Amino acid sequence: MNLLGRSLLDIPDLRPEEVLFLIEEALKLKAFESSQKEQVLPQASGKSVALLFFEPSTRTRTSFQMAAYRLGLRVLKLEAVGSSHQKGETIFDTARNVEALSPHAMVIRHGGSGVPGQISKLLKIPVINAGDGFHAHPTQALLDAFTIRESFPQLRGLHVLIIGDIAHSRVARSNIHCLRGFGAQITVCAPPTLVPPLATEWGVRVTSRLDEELPKADVVMALRMQTERQSTFQVPSIKEYTSRFGLTDERLGKIAKHAIIMHPGPVNRGIEMTSAVLEDPRCKVLEQVHNGVLMRAVLLSEILGVPRGKNL
Ligand code: CP
Repeated sequence: MNLLGRSLLDIPDLRPEEVLFLIEEALKLKAFESSQKEQVLPQASGKSVALLFFEPSTRTRTSFQMAAYRLGLRVLKLEAVGSSHQKGETIFDTARNVEALSPHAMVIRHGGSGVPGQISKLLKIPVINAGDGFHAHPTQALLDAFTIRESFPQLRGLHVLIIGDIAHSRVARSNIHCLRGFGAQITVCAPPTLVPPLATEWGVRVTSRLDEELPKADVVMALRMQTERQSTFQVPSIKEYTSRFGLTDERLGKIAKHAIIMHPGPVNRGIEMTSAVLEDPRCKVLEQVHNGVLMRAVLLSEILGVPRGKNL
């Protein structure tokens, strides 16, 4: 497996065996982590990573940061607010100027689909896409595949139900790419206005009958309602959305005992899922966040050639 010096812009940048390798390594890190009584301070690796977040983020930004600390990387952080972006500098010029500071890799989140890809063509260092517009969120798909793999012996044949705002979701696109590649059967369940017209070409089933689908699913993944990306609100009301597509207390009973419940976050509590769902033992939302640190640590260590293991 050789990810050294490579960019990760979308899931197809990785061969299936590379995704499996990353998952297996993250599983090993987790086993190692649980065997340690306390974290060992990392040795400085002499390498650095720049985190450019030009859209809000809690989980992705902090987990890249934590992953970098665990590998002994120096972290350079830049956000749109407070940067010269506010004075009119383009993201492309910003990225080239940050590269001139000599980080060894750049992690980028941006609201424009394809921006990390365009930046990667301008830079010599590897670029990791931390979420771009509607397009892709490959590290979320990797950590989700890792989280699913922790609960099931294999991804092949699993019934994965993805609920909600498919149209605006880079998480849905990257997860569908990743999980279909391993033979998972994917159903998307959403109001027709929140399903892109070409969704059936992704090789997924499309339905709007949530109550029929819930008992059949091994993995129930709710997505955030991305009202900031919806040009006009695409459901009659949030109340109606929740009554038809929300994971409510009543719907918990319809989810199989062996199934797991996921959400990439941030959760609109009471809209996509209720507090009772978030507290249910089948719910992996916080496990996904924890797994994000481990998966991103494996990825950064492979791309930068930094050893891991003794640093956890
Ligand atoms: N899942 C995810 O991308 O969350 P953040 O927007 O908080 O990073």
